[in-house]
Amino acid sequence: MDIFEACYSYRDPDLVKAAGLYPFFRALSSSEGPMVTVDGRQVVMLGSNNYLGLTHHPDVIRAAHAAIDRYGTGCTGSRFLNGNLDLHETLEAELAAFLDKPATLVFSSGFLANLGVVGLLGSAPDAVLFTDRKNHASLIDGARMARSRRVRVFEDLADLERQLQKQPRWENALVLTDGVFSMTGRVVDLQRLAALKRRFGFRLYLDDAHGFGVLGRQGRGTADSLGLSGDVDLMFATFSKALASVGGFVAGDKPVIEYLRHNVRTLIFSAALPPTSTAAALAALHVMQKDPGLFERMWENVAFFKRGVEALGYHTLGTRTPIVPLWIGSEGRAFQYCREAFDLGLFTTPAMYPAVPKGHAIIRTSVTPAHTKVHLQAALDILETLIKRHPLPRQDPDTIPPARETDIVECATKVLEDPDFANRL
Ligand SMILES: Cc1ncc(COP(=O)(O)O)c(C=O)c1O
Repeated sequence: MDIFEACYSYRDPDLVKAAGLYPFFRALSSSEGPMVTVDGRQVVMLGSNNYLGLTHHPDVIRAAHAAIDRYGTGCTGSRFLNGNLDLHETLEAELAAFLDKPATLVFSSGFLANLGVVGLLGSAPDAVLFTDRKNHASLIDGARMARSRRVRVFEDLADLERQLQKQPRWENALVLTDGVFSMTGRVVDLQRLAALKRRFGFRLYLDDAHGFGVLGRQGRGTADSLGLSGDVDLMFATFSKALASVGGFVAGDKPVIEYLRHNVRTLIFSAALPPTSTAAALAALHVMQKDPGLFERMWENVAFFKRGVEALGYHTLGTRTPIVPLWIGSEGRAFQYCREAFDLGLFTTPAMYPAVPKGHAIIRTSVTPAHTKVHLQAALDILETLIKRHPLPRQDPDTIPPARETDIVECATKVLEDPDFANRL
């Protein structure tokens, strides 16, 4: 069989587009942060990870401009060889000081950091990796790359404890967890995890992509918010969310970071983070420390929006962060909601299996301090229209088991056969 057979016979997106339900790769022709232009229309952006709203902050923009003037547009090589800038090292030093960690290492993307670091650490001959089923794809793929091939997936911390009890020893074990789970906005029970760590003595890797810049003192993250930073052996975070840029880093002990710096293949064999992105992340880090009102505005907006959607009847899955998931259930209905929301002027993103369990599709929204009450009220008005058009089950989603759901392709087929099907979702 032609190895490209799957590509040439792939029709799913065409089918979903024909049914008018396709929500991916929408091209933004301009952005002001909370408002973006798509297909010539201005819509409220409620689907970003711009948690501090800093992508358009004047200091951040100025720093990116200045970096282009000083260093040019790219590093044209890996940090290992020709692409290392003093700016990368300044960012690393400032992150280490901010987090009170001995050292940090900056990568060109968060995905590359997780992939490379977890892949490398998990390649020690007797390494065992424990990874939460809800973890981000980059941790999962890092574990898949690990050459020890001993990867254990846990459902929750009770399951982790059961699995740990069966291990003959634990010093070779690395537990991987997200700090804030990206779909639900739920925060990991780090107190319980830290207690398990003290009991068993494994190493802990915390992916704080959605906690850094949001939780803790001035955004120092999930572990800081609980006073548990000392229990985390390696903390990871990205610049692509609260820090309004792109890139990622890990923070830990000096010997660990030094080993990673010389051995992680996704660092050594990939071009360095561009000057603009490095400078923007550094400037965002400064704004976080200078403007405490930023966090107040963020939490005030989160509380306003969350109260609003819950009053309309949406279930928000116990989020404690600016990620406000709206539980929809049926995958077809989630696509329909997204499309209609967009038609009414609201940019949101659907999330479905495998990001969430089958039959538990959500609309993932997030709120930033750059949104005004006018933006958020406009979003609430649209969501009110939608829930009236397509009422949702009132049951607590946590009590609903995963279902065998109609997937989006089946749903699109039905809509094409019977256009009224969409209205019955
Ligand atoms: C939990 C988590 N980890 C890692 C990443 C990867 O980060 P980046 O966007 O910097 O590649 C993301 C981004 O989606 C994420 O949500």
